[in-house]
Amino acid sequence: VNDIDLEQVRSRHGFHKVRVARVQAETHDAATFVLALEPDQRSLFSYQPGQFCTVRVRIGDEEHLRCYSMSSSPATDRDMALTVKRVPGGRVSNWLIDQVREGDLLELSPPAGSFCPRGGDRPIVAFCGGSGITPVMSIIRAELHSGRRPVRLLYANRDRSSVIFAGALKQLAAEHPDRFELRFHHDEDSGLVKGAEIREFLAGQTDIDAYVCGPAAFMDLVETALIETGVDPHRIEVERFDRPIAGHADPGSIPSRGKAPETVTIIFEGTTHLIPYQVGDSLLATARRGGLAAPFSCEAGNCATCMARVVRGSAEMRVNDALTDDEVAAGWVLTCQAVPVTAELTVEYERL
Ligand SMILES: Cc1cc2nc3c(=O)[nH]c(=O)nc-3n(C[C@H](O)[C@H](O)[C@H](O)COP(=O)(O)OP(=O)(O)OC[C@H]3O[C@@H](n4cnc5c(N)ncnc54)[C@H](O)[C@@H]3O)c2cc1C
Ligand code: FES
Repeated sequence: VNDIDLEQVRSRHGFHKVRVARVQAETHDAATFVLALEPDQRSLFSYQPGQFCTVRVRIGDEEHLRCYSMSSSPATDRDMALTVKRVPGGRVSNWLIDQVREGDLLELSPPAGSFCPRGGDRPIVAFCGGSGITPVMSIIRAELHSGRRPVRLLYANRDRSSVIFAGALKQLAAEHPDRFELRFHHDEDSGLVKGAEIREFLAGQTDIDAYVCGPAAFMDLVETALIETGVDPHRIEVERFDRPIAGHADPGSIPSRGKAPETVTIIFEGTTHLIPYQVGDSLLATARRGGLAAPFSCEAGNCATCMARVVRGSAEMRVNDALTDDEVAAGWVLTCQAVPVTAELTVEYERL
């Protein structure tokens, strides 16, 4: 890969300083960061409803990468906005809400992700919990503005004070009474959402495009109820916000078709490391096992923050929703998704 290619890769997947135009409190524990893109950043940051950006922050001596979805919609909002909800004990969400103010610069990588509306005329039925409303708000705004499909949303929260965009959602429902059905679920009234409530909300309608985003247990429950009711699993889009905690869980073993190497060579921050390879481990898991603080965020093949370049041998990815064909041809892989398929493998991380 020559220098020009690396600059292209950095531009597409690296981090760019973006100014915060406004911080809007949404609830006691959530805030929206409205961003002021420079004119020369606008095309790089053009996005589809439902996509996210990765934020890179330095807190003390540590650098953190986290994904945050756009709550704005390209069709209805001049400015791009991210909405962040506090996570108890969470490092980045709390830091963003407590520290970032109007005029500050955030480091963001360009939009990514495939939790986006597909074409067609099936009704859109969305199920969200808590901060899971963020990408769905973007999708709903876009569809009600430019599309013709009916949209329905079941939005679950612990209590009334935690409902993000309550006013905006009610306003959309008032503006589109024939097309937008809105239902709030508050645990404080009736406990956690149950499968029966999901089935009842579906009302037997199975030929839909479903969008699901929320806490892991909520998403599992919704997915199961939708499939049991007869919704085609291929028409259910899910966006997982939770990710494994580094060192506590790995993304699961990836079957390899090739010959597994005994060691993988990883060049990280200019130093070469020979790390024993365990069959089924991703390259990211291997780097971690070798004690390297390799970058990652979504661990789902969406964000590209974990990308590195194979300089010897080859590796295959389980999922790639982030790299272009020319990047893959140039040897780039998503290390969270890649396993070696040659007896020797050397992979090099570049600072993006
Ligand atoms: C594609 C995608 C889109 C997303 N969009 C949004 C969005 O629009 N809005 C939004 O608010 N969030 C979104 N998220 C989630 C977001 O990226 C962060 O994961 C979230 O803000 C929590 O980050 P944090 O740094 O605050 O928490 P972390 O510090 O990562 O902690 C998360 C949780 O793990 C616990 N924990 C951390 N380390 C350990 C440990 N070593 N042992 C035990 N427990 C531990 C913490 O106590 C906490 O409960 C999205 C995630 C993805 C993948
Ligand atoms: S961590 Fe997001 S693609 Fe690998």
